[in-house]
Amino acid sequence: MDLMLEGRRCLVTGASAGIGAAIAEGLAREGATVVATARRQDVLDQWAEGLEAAGVRRPLTVTGDMTDARQIGRIACQAAQLAGPIEVLINCAGGSRPVTLEDGEEVWEEAMSLNFTAGRRLAEHVLPAMREARWGRIINITGLMEPHFLNAALAAKAALHLWAKGLSRDLAKEGITINSIAPGRIESEQVQRLYPESERAAFIERYIPAGYFGEPADLSNLVVFLASPLARYITGTLIPVDGGMSHKGA
Ligand SMILES: NC(=O)c1ccc[n+]([C@@H]2O[C@H](COP(=O)([O-])OP(=O)(O)OC[C@H]3O[C@@H](n4cnc5c(N)ncnc54)[C@H](OP(=O)(O)O)[C@@H]3O)[C@@H](O)[C@H]2O)c1
Repeated sequence: MDLMLEGRRCLVTGASAGIGAAIAEGLAREGATVVATARRQDVLDQWAEGLEAAGVRRPLTVTGDMTDARQIGRIACQAAQLAGPIEVLINCAGGSRPVTLEDGEEVWEEAMSLNFTAGRRLAEHVLPAMREARWGRIINITGLMEPHFLNAALAAKAALHLWAKGLSRDLAKEGITINSIAPGRIESEQVQRLYPESERAAFIERYIPAGYFGEPADLSNLVVFLASPLARYITGTLIPVDGGMSHKGA
């Protein structure tokens, strides 16, 4: 299937690892012009070199901290300078933030800033060009909507989902779709840190009908499709990619 992504200008956050890296690679493999962003320049460089060596169009890279409003503005600006007006934005930077009632404001501020405000801010930077072109895609990587415990990142992801849903209604007639994808448990840097091998079997037995943790490609395949012009009639959705986890009382 030709996804018609050749030359499309895409900006992917959280692209130095895990899900974001797989999404950026998936788009690059379809011939898109990808700008990949994260904080670690050395990791981004090594990853981009690896793709180029494998014969994939080398992604462009920009570094910055998505919790800083000024840096978000700079990332948006540099991405447009490097690639041209961004047509596809993937908000993937983020991470789990388990909290207790004793944790202070700073913990909540950081979690909301990274997992909600960053994506909204970046979208506000790229949307004027999308609106002018009357075409655009925004895809947010959110999280499960049924927490197992208090996690500030999930509260932020819920905000991102409902922000996306509302905005998708406003922009639906302008050729811009906005969707969210809720991963279950997908192999990545943070998942390897949070789920040691010794604890996985019990977790999988309890929560994941498919019987295993997903791979980043399980999620990036869907993102690449949603980025395509072929996905024009899908907007305002939250699609779980979770091996059935959200249907097992997760
Ligand atoms: N994997 C899962 O099972 C799962 C489940 C639910 C939700 N999610 C969501 O999916 C997304 C990707 O998760 P992942 O598991 O692939 O995570 P990961 O392996 O930890 O990667 C996180 C990415 O975000 C970037 N990042 C983190 N903090 C940042 C900051 N302040 N500024 C800029 N970039 C930052 C990291 O790059 P640098 O460190 O280089 O900045 C990295 O590229 C996240 O939004 C996460 O909440 C994942």
